[in-house]
Amino acid sequence: MATRILPGMEFYRTNSNLKWIILAVSSLISFGSIVYTDRLVRELKARERQDVQLFARAIEYASKEDFNTNMVFVTEEIINKNNSVPLILADAEGQVIFARNVEVDSSQNADRIQQQLRREAAVMQTYYEPIIIELRDPTRNNEPYALQKVYYRNSSLLVQLTAFPYVQLSVIAIFAFISYLAFNYSKSAEQNRVWVGLAKETAHQLGTPLSSLMAWVEVLRDDPELKKKGFVEELDKDVRKLRVVTERFSSIGSTPQLKPENIYHLISNVVSYLEPRVSSKINFEVYSLSEHIMAAVHAPLFEWVIENLCKNAVDAIGTSGTVAIKVLRGSDRKVLIDISDTGKGIPKANQARIFKPGFTTKKRGWGLGLALAQRIIELYHNGRIFIKSSEENLGTTFRIELNSV
Ligand SMILES: Nc1ncnc2c1ncn2[C@@H]1O[C@H](COP(=O)(O)OP(=O)(O)O)[C@@H](O)[C@H]1O
Ligand SMILES: [Mg+2]
Repeated sequence: MATRILPGMEFYRTNSNLKWIILAVSSLISFGSIVYTDRLVRELKARERQDVQLFARAIEYASKEDFNTNMVFVTEEIINKNNSVPLILADAEGQVIFARNVEVDSSQNADRIQQQLRREAAVMQTYYEPIIIELRDPTRNNEPYALQKVYYRNSSLLVQLTAFPYVQLSVIAIFAFISYLAFNYSKSAEQNRVWVGLAKETAHQLGTPLSSLMAWVEVLRDDPELKKKGFVEELDKDVRKLRVVTERFSSIGSTPQLKPENIYHLISNVVSYLEPRVSSKINFEVYSLSEHIMAAVHAPLFEWVIENLCKNAVDAIGTSGTVAIKVLRGSDRKVLIDISDTGKGIPKANQARIFKPGFTTKKRGWGLGLALAQRIIELYHNGRIFIKSSEENLGTTFRIELNSV
């Protein structure tokens, strides 16, 4: 079965391709950004570790000298020049000798600070193994006389850099999501304007010749000659149908008022209008458990939906078969209408697309029937319309859900 997309409707197709391309490109950018920052993070980590090791070696080297002056030199020259790696120097018993880039509450007494730093060192140890320093005495053959440990963790720069791609991607994702919503909203607002504008214009243009036709029918009715031949009745029927069409267009262009209507009767009306106009090999059946199932609908628009679904069913059947319509009462105060045919069915691949405007598989189709039906049922009646089931070469059932009164 050839699927045809009408000119001007390619937008819906290219649009969905475009969506995938945009998605692919943005995933690629996100992935690239994460991989790249990950590399930076690893390099910076290695460099920070080297700095801490340098610090440790410097202490080892300088241990024979006066501790405090050396410490000043080592910290000024090495630690302050790195990316502010927080580190703690402690002796073998864990007594903290010195801390750098670690926030301490200096209003506390020395014991408290010592405790806090020990806790901090314990936390640091969960990130990185401390670096061991062996202090040697040069006067005694460089024999080691004490052990010290340098605890450290990532600098705040490194921490930020690690989080950066995620923050960046979240911001981009939020922005993209908002733009998508705005784009969709403006697209559907534009579609709405087209639907409503075109419908109003059509109703308006039909209106003038229609009123004059109606007047002419009245004039002709007065002619006894014509009246006898039954011409006027036939003409009147067509004029009335034209009025129904005009009313449909004018209702879809405004907000239609819903009224309690007998669903079984409305459907029977449509079927008795259609039945004589299609092949006699197509059989129509309307079932309802009760003839008094009421729902809040706008009759001209609702009939239009039923007519569209029946015409599609007839097209799907081809030469001979049955269109069966069932009116049921559902749970939750719903009225259910199932329209089944014994036609060719809808392939799975098309099922998601049939409600899109412009989608048709017919040579002379416009692909607007189901789009219109969906708009009428979902937007104006707050109901639902969907494919209940469809089997290739066996048939299709559409279901409409309406709110009962
Ligand atoms: N009852 C059905 N059985 C099989 N296919 C259907 C049926 N109803 C709709 N379709 C498919 O959905 C398409 C869109 O239907 P519609 O919007 O009414 O447009 P059109 O009738 O102009 O093609 C049809 O071309 C057809 O392929
Ligand atoms: Mg159709």
